[in-house]
Amino acid sequence: MSAKIINGKEIAQDIKEGLKKRVQALPMTPGLAVVLVGDDPASQVYVRNKEKACQEVGFYSEVHRLAEDTSEQELLDLIEQLNNNPKIHGILVQLPLPKHIDERKVINQILPTKDVDGFHPINAGALLIGEKGLKPCTPKGCIRLIKEMGLDITGKKAVVVGRSNIVGKPVVLMLLQENATVEICHSRTQDLTKEVKDADILVVAIGKANFITGEMIKPGAIVIDVGINRLEDGTLAGDVEFASAKEVAGYITPVPGGVGPMTIAMLLENTLEAALALMEGK
Ligand code: GUN
Repeated sequence: MSAKIINGKEIAQDIKEGLKKRVQALPMTPGLAVVLVGDDPASQVYVRNKEKACQEVGFYSEVHRLAEDTSEQELLDLIEQLNNNPKIHGILVQLPLPKHIDERKVINQILPTKDVDGFHPINAGALLIGEKGLKPCTPKGCIRLIKEMGLDITGKKAVVVGRSNIVGKPVVLMLLQENATVEICHSRTQDLTKEVKDADILVVAIGKANFITGEMIKPGAIVIDVGINRLEDGTLAGDVEFASAKEVAGYITPVPGGVGPMTIAMLLENTLEAALALMEGK
C-alpha cells in the first residue's frame, strides 16, 4: 500500500491566503526584517523566498544583506536598531553566521517579542514550560502538517531523529505538548532501527540524505521529513528515502514540497502574531 502524500506546498498556500485576509483587515502592516550576513548560496535562496512570501501576504519587509566580513558589533548594532524600529515586528537573522560571529550573542540581542524564529532563550524557555511565546518555525510547521491532515497526536509514540536547537529539541517539546509519548534519537543512539521501528509518528531532522529507509518504518506511520539535502546530481533529497518509505508509511511528506513551504508559512504567522501582540501592548 502506498502512503498518503502530505502536500505541504498546498497547505502552506492555504495558510498564506488566510494570513493575507487577516492582514487586509488590520489597521496596521506587519513588518519583517531579515538579516543575511555573507553569501552562502542556500541562505540567499531562503532569504529571497522569505521576502517573496512577505509580499504575497501584504507584509512590509526589509532585507539587510551584509558583507561576510561584517563585525559582530556592527551586526549587534543593526539588531538594536531593528529592535527599536516601530515598523518592524519580526526580526530573523539567517543562520549559519560567519565563524567570527558568535551566533548565541546575536540571537540573545533580538528582542524576545520580535524573535520570530523562536530561538531566544526566553522563547525557548517558554516552550519548555508550556507558556505562551514565539515558537520555532520548522517544528511548528511539522506539527501543523499533522493536524491539517486531521491526524491525532495524543497518546501516539513519536520518535524524533536529530537533536538540534532549531528542529529536533523544539519538535520534541511540541509533540509532548500535544500529548505524544516522545523519544529522541541521534548519532549516538545504539540501535536506531529498533527505535525508529516503534514510531507511530516519525520526525527526521538529521541532515543526511536518504538516511531512513522503508524497512526501518512501522507500517502506517506518519513520516515527517525535515531534511533538505542536495545530491551530487543537483537534485534534492530528504533524510528519508522517499521511494521505499512511501510503500510502508501511512502518511509522508515529500522533499521538496513538504516541510519546507510550511517553515515560511509559520514565519509569516509568527510575524503576524508578534505584530498583534505589539499592537495590543502585550
Ligand atoms: N537556517 C536554517 N534554518 C533556519 C531557520 O529556521 N532560521 C534561521 N534564522 N536560519 C536558518
